[in-house]
Formats: sequence, structure tokens, C-alpha cells
Amino acid sequence: AGARLVIDPDFAVGPVDPRLYGTFVEHMGRCVYTGIYEPGHPTADAAGFRGDVARLVRELGTGLVRYPGGNFVSGYHWEDGVGPFADRPRRLDPAWRSIETNQVGTNEFLGWSREVGVEPMLAVNLGTRGIDPARALVEYCNVPGGTAWSDLRVRHGVPEPHDVRLWCLGNEMDGPWQTGHKTATEYGRLAAQAGKAMRQVDPSIELVLCGSSNAEMPTFGSWEAEALRHAYDEVDHLSLHAYYEEKGGDQASFLASGAHMDAYIADVVATADHARAVRRARKRVTLSFDEWNVWYADRFPGERRLDLAETPRLIEDTYSVTDAVVVGDLLITLLRHADRVAIACLAQLVNVIGPIRSEPDGPSWRQATFHPFALTARYARGTVLCTEPTGPWIETARYGEVETLDAVVTWDEESGDLTVLAVNRDQREALPLRVVPRGLPGTYRMVEHLAIADPDPDATNTRERPDRVIPRRIEGGEVTGEGELTVELPALSWNLVRLT
Ligand code: AHR
Repeated sequence: AGARLVIDPDFAVGPVDPRLYGTFVEHMGRCVYTGIYEPGHPTADAAGFRGDVARLVRELGTGLVRYPGGNFVSGYHWEDGVGPFADRPRRLDPAWRSIETNQVGTNEFLGWSREVGVEPMLAVNLGTRGIDPARALVEYCNVPGGTAWSDLRVRHGVPEPHDVRLWCLGNEMDGPWQTGHKTATEYGRLAAQAGKAMRQVDPSIELVLCGSSNAEMPTFGSWEAEALRHAYDEVDHLSLHAYYEEKGGDQASFLASGAHMDAYIADVVATADHARAVRRARKRVTLSFDEWNVWYADRFPGERRLDLAETPRLIEDTYSVTDAVVVGDLLITLLRHADRVAIACLAQLVNVIGPIRSEPDGPSWRQATFHPFALTARYARGTVLCTEPTGPWIETARYGEVETLDAVVTWDEESGDLTVLAVNRDQREALPLRVVPRGLPGTYRMVEHLAIADPDPDATNTRERPDRVIPRRIEGGEVTGEGELTVELPALSWNLVRLT
């Protein structure tokens, strides 16, 4: 039995915002140093940023990059990373027990983000620090000049303000591992006051309040409610983080990770709207899913590392075909919630659980997970349409029964392009899919059907074989005389079907 999907442009979820195609650069492992930045590299530009990596970042199509952490930000002094390079201190980074040389800081990162054409999203330290350094950073970045901090930026060689719109009020402040971990009450009050002071400097900024570090945190739900009780009026977005991995060989549950993300988003929307009702507020807080990915966290020794290395190799996961299918499915899930999820960041961008890998003084390449992200960012444009797929179900140990098909459809009214993104969670059987369009102007033809699918679901891309996993063209799909699209989704696959 196959699956069926009805599409109708009269029923829309909302516009596709480039902020949904965000990623994340943290001062962790080799994301910054020998990732985006390596002055001695043959492709490096005048500022020391790698040209080969920048090219892949542009190809990935990320619309937004969050910086500088992550757990790193909770011990960070942004003043260490500005001004003459020779004066910048070598600091012990408590989050990752590494040496931070501060050779890349706010101005270098913001210059790079302009160069690669992405919107920056900065996080302030609410772990070891508070209101004053946070508002000073907004002044340093956004005020044109004529004040102490903005004039310092000008003296540092940056005459124009950076005009950073998006700001995270700390990172994962509910986590006991966080430097400066707080209770929800302590955090909610601090975030509200820091946010207010930052907005007194620049009233046009948008603020992200930390939600829970994941849906399994013991304080999940109550943390959001309490933090919002204090900070609702000051903030625009509430954060969510989630990392997925295959555990104990249970591939079926892993392939259903999107079902978990779906329920998690629904719970946080309900919690945010409850806070709104209690507050009798007009404003609706939207979600910032500013860390999501597949991460084999079970394999990471974490704080057991005792050495204090500069640029250590941390969590450089190598992704498989199965991981790529799950990443593609998580993006489908995020797009289906485009009405409430305003921001989403694949964590991270390079080397550290990134879709891009690079070697010092060596090549860079696309991981398997690069492909579903890049194709989604390129083709899922315009408006997300409401879809209610029908079809078979699959039993999973972790999430019970889940739909075999997960899908989303976008429609670009201007170009007339329709994009169907679909995952077949069945590990063995192909899934026939029928797409029934209603109320669309004109007739449609199929442009192409691309898929990430492979006889070996564990296949990966490596330095030696960087193109082992790539999207492949699937033949056989067609638009029938009645205008319906029929395609076959291979077993365990992520698919992109383009119509015009
Ligand atoms: O992305 C890696 C880490 O995961 C981040 O620093 C932290 O916010 C999360 O726990």
C-alpha cells in the first residue's frame, strides 16, 4: 500500500524564512580554528578565513549562523576577542577544557558572515557574566559611533556598525554542566534585565530566551514557564535544542526522530502560549530551534578530558546515509512548523558535528548530511503548504506507531515551483507516493526526483572518498493525465521531487 498527499495552496502554514536554514559556529574543537579560519591555508583570504570552506558554506545555503556558543559562551569575555591580535589573551575555556587563543573574535566572525552572505546571531554570556558586558557588546556592535564602546570598535578598524539583529540571552542555562548554571527563577530575572538593558541600547534587536537543553531535562516545561513568567515581555523567541542518535541498534526509532521533534515543538508552543495567556499578552513568542542535529553524544568522553589542548579534535562525527535521511527528516519537521518555528540552526557548521569537514593544510568536503540540507535550502522556497499525508505506519520501540512517510511541500507562487520533500522510514520496502494537487493555477510537469538512498545505509563520505554519498536521480516518476504525481520512494530514503 502506498502513501498519498493532497496539496492545496489555499491552505498554507506560512512563509519559508531563510532563518530556518541556520547553522552554528562555536569556539569548540575545530569549528573555528582549522574549520572556517586557518591563516596558513593555501585558500585563506587576507583575513585568514579558508576560501574552500567558505565556498562550501555558500553552497550549503545557510541563511543564518549562530556564534560564539554554545557552552563556550558561558565563560567567554568578548573583550578578549577584539583589538590588536598580539594583545589577545590565551584563555582556559572551561566548557571544552581547551586553550582559546582569541585570534577570532566578534569583528572577525561578523566580517566573515558578511563575506559568505549569512545573517549573524550572537549569544551573550549569562553564565559567569551579566547585564553590563551584554549591553556593552550591543553598543560595540550596533551603535554607529560617538560612545565609548562604539568608538572602540571604530578604533579597532571597523567604522560601520555591524547591525546585529538577533541575540541569544545565554545558552542552555538549565543544564547542570553549564558554567554559571542557574535556576529558572534566577535565569528568568537575569535574562529579563539583561534583555531590557540590551534593548535600551538598540530597541530594534530581537532576543532569544533559553528554553530547556532538551525535552528529557527533568525541568522541561516548568523551566520554560518560569523563565517566561519573568521575561515574556522582553523576548521574541524561546530556544529548543535536540540531538538524535541511533541507540542499541534500534534504527527504526532513530529514523522516527522527526516524530520526537514534532511532539517537542508542539509542547513548547503550548507552554509559550500558556505563558501568553497568563500574561494576557498580545505578542506571541516564536521558537528558535537553535541547536539540532544527529550527534553520537554517547561516544564523547566529555569532561573526562584532562589535557588542555589548543584546537582539539572534538565530536568530529562522520555521518552515514541513515544520518543524512534523519537530518533531512528533521528539516521537513521544522518546515512543517514554519508558523511557529522562526529560527533553526543545524549544530554545528564545520568539523564539530558539521555537514562540512576540513583538514588542517588539507582538503575540505561535504558530509552525507550536507546534501539534504543544501537541497532543501535551495529548493524549499516560498510558502509551506498544509499537508496531511495518509499511508502505512511503522512500529518503533521508542515512539510507538509513526507514519512511514514524512513529508512537506513548498510552493513558490512567483516561479510556480513546487517542491515535495519526503522521507520513507521503511528500512526494507520502497513506498509508492501519490501527490494530488488541488487548486493550483495551470498544469505541472516533473523536473527531477533526487534521493539520498543506498544499498549500504552505513556508507559515509571521507577524505579519501568525499563523494561516496551524493544525491542520486530516481527515474520512473511522472505526472499522470489527471495531473497527479506518482513516484516511488526507495527504502530508507530522503527525497526531493521538483515540479514546475
Ligand atoms: O553543539 C555542542 C554543544 O551542545 C553546545 O555547546 C551546547 O549548547 C550543547 O549542549
